[in-house]
Amino acid sequence: NIQKATNIKPEFHHVTREKRSQSLGKTGGEKKFRGCTIWFTGLSGAGKTSISFSLEERLVTSGVPSYSLDGDNIRHGLNKNLGFSEVERQENIRRVAEVARLFADAGHICLCSFISPQTADRNMARAIHQKSGLPFFEVFVDTPLEVCEQRDVKGLYKKARDGIIKGFTGIDQAYEKPEHPELVLKTTNSSIEESVDMVLELLQEQGILP
Ligand code: PPS
Ligand code: MG
Repeated sequence: NIQKATNIKPEFHHVTREKRSQSLGKTGGEKKFRGCTIWFTGLSGAGKTSISFSLEERLVTSGVPSYSLDGDNIRHGLNKNLGFSEVERQENIRRVAEVARLFADAGHICLCSFISPQTADRNMARAIHQKSGLPFFEVFVDTPLEVCEQRDVKGLYKKARDGIIKGFTGIDQAYEKPEHPELVLKTTNSSIEESVDMVLELLQEQGILP
């Protein structure tokens, strides 16, 4: 049985965010702290991974440190002991948000692609960043269930409909749509590259990118 630690206290780094950014990528002739988290939420098959990975590529190619954390990947490593109940999804999001906070604090643009169907969990992820003074942008990859199910890239919707997978988001578990996301991407009207451009525009508006 796992027990909570006692007798622990935070230790403080010697390196400031400004100092950290000096040893990182240089964009537009400027070395500036750009650490933040972009949180992609949406149904399975909505396009979270595709957009996140393309964005990561665009950023890194242009000299901006960025790293993607993706549900399917994280669930093979850090979170391999978690399933898909509400409580386990909550713990999944909590751990990932803490990891994202570390990447952002280190000066990276951390891209998170998780279904994160529960509003309270997404708010927790935001709060974890806010308490560390790190920008957090929620991006709703708003692809209708019908479209995701029609795409069914991994064949999971079929399995869920056939009752082989239980507790599948959108089928027999709820997806709570974001109420105040910083950005909404409609993937039925736009390509992956167009969605990436919209996130880049957001980052410029927010002063993260020049
Ligand atoms: S969550 O809700 O944020 O904790 O989920 P996440 O960590 O993003 O993992 C979602 C991926 O797991 C696969 N998968 C399922 N998704 C939803 N519900 C159930 N029951 C389920 N079982 C397996 C699926 O490949 C999801 O990936 P994406 O990229 O979203 O399609
Ligand atoms: Mg995915």
